[in-house]
Amino acid sequence: MSAEIIDGKAVAAEIDVRAGEAGAELARKLGRAPCLAVVLIGEDPASQVYVRNKVRRTEAAGLTSIEIRKPADVSEAETIEIVRTLNANPEVDGILVQLPLPDHIDANAVIETIDPDKDVDGLTEASAGRLVLGKRGLRPCTPTGCVDLAKRALGDLSGKSVVVIGRSILVGKPAALLFLEQNATVTIAHSRTADLPGLARTADILVPAVGRPEMVRGDWVKPGACVLDVGINRIDAPERGEGKTRLVGDAAFDEIVGHAGWITPVPGGIGPMTIAMLLRNTVLAAALRNGLEIPTGS
Ligand code: GUN
Repeated sequence: MSAEIIDGKAVAAEIDVRAGEAGAELARKLGRAPCLAVVLIGEDPASQVYVRNKVRRTEAAGLTSIEIRKPADVSEAETIEIVRTLNANPEVDGILVQLPLPDHIDANAVIETIDPDKDVDGLTEASAGRLVLGKRGLRPCTPTGCVDLAKRALGDLSGKSVVVIGRSILVGKPAALLFLEQNATVTIAHSRTADLPGLARTADILVPAVGRPEMVRGDWVKPGACVLDVGINRIDAPERGEGKTRLVGDAAFDEIVGHAGWITPVPGGIGPMTIAMLLRNTVLAAALRNGLEIPTGS
């Protein structure tokens, strides 16, 4: 048996279109399209690429974006003031502050300034609390993308065994809660977990999210399991020529693809889903903030 390779890029493109359609439906009632504001501080090259992609896909879907860029030496007070201004702007539905922020800025203080109803990254304490309590709110994008792909592959997740490897605030912890919300049985594994390979082998759905290249080996994966690889790691690739690099996930794709049921590739798996969920959250925020029905299909 050979795994089905989940085409996250194609699914994400489909979700972008549906978010755009839902945004257009809201625009007819609001008199404007849902709007995402993205704040980028400094010149981190990876962050610049991420922000460019977020803005490009937002606009391609027919939503509106505002991009605010400031040099790395901007003060924490000024960064917080930018967020406050966006909070107060009724035409801004979603606010995303690209991380990491420069060292002299307390990222937590900036994130906590974001109005939770505009927190499309799902990173504020209020959003985390809403998730834990099962209340309506904006959920973090990458883990939401994992659950979406898992449901497309397996259907109802009720009773499935999920092992999330990694306990980060951005992915591991919210992923566990989101799978729990689907009535899955969830275990969070981490660096102190005993017999990690043995535990991983119990999973119907395995979610490596630790940032360690190809850590999950072929014999960690139960035949027929679904592997959702959140890791994006750049490694040397001398076989491609001197100084060349390539991207790999946290799972050893070639060892797993022969016997898993489903696997997400890196790149082109979970990565593109993150932005799709950001667009979906922007539409959701626009609807919730304005007391409108959430458009169907978004
Ligand atoms: N930097 C890397 N990933 C993310 C993300 O999902 N959200 C934000 N705001 N910054 C990031």
